Amino acid sequence: MSVKKEHKQMSLQTENGLGASKESLSHSNKKPVKGFSKLSKEGKLNFIIDHYFQGSSETKKFLKSFWHDDSTVQKILDEFSENTLTNFFLPFGVAPNVLINQKLHTVPMVIEESSVVAAASKAAKFWFQRGGFHTEVIDTLKSGQVHLSWKGEPEKLIAFFKEVKQDLVAAVKPLMSNMEKRGGGLRSLELKDCQDKEEGYFQLWAEFETCDAMGANFINSVLEGLGKEMTALIKANELETRLGDFEVIMAILSNYTPDCLVKAWVECPIEDLADPTLELQPEHFAQKFYQSVRIAEIEPHRATTHNKGVMNGIDAVVLATGNDFRAIEACAHTYAAKSGSYKSLTHCSLENGKFKFEIEIPLALGTVGGLTSLHPLAKLSLNLLGNPSAKELMGITATIGLAQNFGALRSLVTTGIQKGHMKMHLMNILNHLDASESEREKAKVHFENKVISFRDVSEFVGQLRSYQ
Ligand code: MEV
Repeated sequence: MSVKKEHKQMSLQTENGLGASKESLSHSNKKPVKGFSKLSKEGKLNFIIDHYFQGSSETKKFLKSFWHDDSTVQKILDEFSENTLTNFFLPFGVAPNVLINQKLHTVPMVIEESSVVAAASKAAKFWFQRGGFHTEVIDTLKSGQVHLSWKGEPEKLIAFFKEVKQDLVAAVKPLMSNMEKRGGGLRSLELKDCQDKEEGYFQLWAEFETCDAMGANFINSVLEGLGKEMTALIKANELETRLGDFEVIMAILSNYTPDCLVKAWVECPIEDLADPTLELQPEHFAQKFYQSVRIAEIEPHRATTHNKGVMNGIDAVVLATGNDFRAIEACAHTYAAKSGSYKSLTHCSLENGKFKFEIEIPLALGTVGGLTSLHPLAKLSLNLLGNPSAKELMGITATIGLAQNFGALRSLVTTGIQKGHMKMHLMNILNHLDASESEREKAKVHFENKVISFRDVSEFVGQLRSYQ
């Protein structure tokens, strides 16, 4: 269909409406659109331009200017999602000199927030001179649940599960052959009676090893297979007294993976914390740092911001390596609340003259499959890291979370956070003002110890320009 024709058809469809109430439509002068997803990319773009940007060819050109030059690469990016119009760029940076278990890494980070990469790099440099970071993967198990409703006698279902457990496992065996070849698969299967939470609620609780894959598709396929087989076995054995006694409500992995756990830490004698850039004596710094972590362990408002700083680092690596940052975020916060109140993900101790700072966090990451091999930059990130195993990536990612948190707390308990932020803020404003190299240099000197505002910087640049 030609763009013009497609375009016309679209306009007609919007005029028909989709049955929404007058009230809901009156909130906007736009009409609902039907069949948008079926349009070509060009058609979607035209529709948006016509309906939201008064047909501006400039805006269309602008959106297209973010397309990749190589149409094969662009097609890959387009197909990650639906209704793709263009690409949304984020900075891809690196934190160099990250020494982990005596191995040096340059860690890719994708993040838009200024100071995050700088803080991680600074912390990496600091700890490079003090033995680097240490990591240990505690376990790599993931779980998923088939959520069941059972209205019959609980004992009957429990006994039946024991009888058919091996049949259930055998039924999903074909789905697992590839994963089993790589050393993974289903590790355990149990029936959990959850009636303390809700009457008639049971779960088939399955645990999985997915090796270097994040494994979401694998886990979900096996869970759905288990649900179907359980339903079939119940029917075949006429376990229900009444139709509908048994029902699979849903089958889905859990993004809470407390058994896919990694630890990262740094440690050194307190006096070795001495550093010309520290602005505090080592003992005083260690004490204030310890207290700052302690506050995040006992005060949820602070814990949230503290953990946000940790996730600044973690999300940046997760994004750069093509992993699922929403899953990682959701899991991290559930883990932070595992005691019943929300707490810091990092911990500090000062014992026998030693400073130790550590993080323990579940990180269900993959280095094969999914976006990790499809997204050209995710592939490059993994390459840059020496194509790590999922376990190694867990260690690297936890390290950057710890480094980030160390950097933030170090600033907070010494100079305050605004000093570093202001520097980057100044750069952003200068970019906005299209400042020349010499204007930038002059502005850096002028604003060295000043609070930065857009108005002050633009006035300053304006003055420089008026002298020319
Ligand atoms: C800002 O993105 C993160 C911090 O607020 C973290 C913290 O307060 O620990 C600096």
